[in-house]
Amino acid sequence: MNTLHRIDGRLHLEGVALDTLAERYGTPLYVYSRQALESAYQAYSDAFAATPHLICYAVKANSSLAILNVFARLGAGFDIVSGGELARVLAAGGDPGKVVFSGVGKTADEMHAALEAGILCFNVESVSELHRLNRVASELGKVAPVSFRVNPDVDPKTHPYISTGLKENKFGVPIADAPALYRLAASLPHLQVTGIDCHIGSQLTDLSPLADAADRVLALVDALAAEGIALHHIDLGGGVGIRYHDETPPDLAAYGRTLAARFAGRREKLLLEPGRSLVGNAGLLLTRVEYLKPGEDKNFAIVDAAMNDLMRPALYEAYHEIVAIDERPTPAKRYDIVGPICETGDFLGFARYLAIEEGDLLALLSAGAYGMSMASNYNSRPRAAEVLINRNEIYLIRERETKDSLMAGERLAD
Ligand code: LLP
Repeated sequence: MNTLHRIDGRLHLEGVALDTLAERYGTPLYVYSRQALESAYQAYSDAFAATPHLICYAVKANSSLAILNVFARLGAGFDIVSGGELARVLAAGGDPGKVVFSGVGKTADEMHAALEAGILCFNVESVSELHRLNRVASELGKVAPVSFRVNPDVDPKTHPYISTGLKENKFGVPIADAPALYRLAASLPHLQVTGIDCHIGSQLTDLSPLADAADRVLALVDALAAEGIALHHIDLGGGVGIRYHDETPPDLAAYGRTLAARFAGRREKLLLEPGRSLVGNAGLLLTRVEYLKPGEDKNFAIVDAAMNDLMRPALYEAYHEIVAIDERPTPAKRYDIVGPICETGDFLGFARYLAIEEGDLLALLSAGAYGMSMASNYNSRPRAAEVLINRNEIYLIRERETKDSLMAGERLAD
């Protein structure tokens, strides 16, 4: 996180001291850097400048309205996976004409809303979905733009829970079935074939699976063109990894060159669906140490954030760097950083060396992606507030949930 730095020992994000945010808004608190969001987007624009392209930010990574609005203002498109995400994109000022709709389980209502909004493309993942889309479009007297999400069957070499492009995954249609499916789609009156799509997994640290997937998709596009089915865009999904700990993330410029070489002289526009690599390192989760609990084998630091706020460690054993907001001169001790939730899986980090006392603040880094968007109310914990920093300016972009909001919509039975 390059907008994070110490001034006189105090940790700042851009021009703002993190302890002042904790005083003002309480903890746990998500804090994002606008400069980091913008520079991550700019890195994509620069890397792919040689190829006509559209960056469709994957909303699931962080769907807070203010974050979506930052990307909308930069001209981004959006990759959505639900009617809820569509509503958020529209509320945040996103252009529906730059929205692609992914996901294996689109409902008729969601299709209806997306057709009414006039989205760029539906990334269709099965034959049944294709027929449903044709029917919904016909009821509205519209023609739906479609791509198939093909499954190129390459191993992305990432965590099995976030690997999506293998034969055994539920996603996409087998690449070998695609020609027949495109012929079928071309024959249905309320569909218009416009593109092709694939997404092979997330947190990829190696470019070669992405390049392999691109090659397989491009070969299919050429085979389709030979049959008279010409596409307007090729969507290669998201998946570029970030540095959480000691990973070496793929070099975006190298990815850009790889694709520029493959797209040179082609007529189709390149679409990308990055999520994590646009927001992951632009956000952190601020938490306060409630108790230090020394033990024979282990010391625990019990903090006020938990797995409901940041689920990634519990779900994927994901590593997030944890740093103290104020530096103390005392020697560091080894702690397991855990939350107050009643599950052994409620941990945020194991065996971290920290010089801390009760009441101190910690920051969990690289928490901008799949942090707040995966937060829940488990253990009846109100979800955290969120703040966006822009140089010295501070915006509360989401209020902390209250006890009332926790119970909103609930009622007793007779
Ligand atoms: N496009 C599609 C169709 C996707 O399914 C995803 C992510 C993306 C794009 C964005 O991928 P990214 O650029 O962020 O890697 N909760 C997990 C990650 C799940 C990713 C799901 N799909 C985590 O916390 O690591």
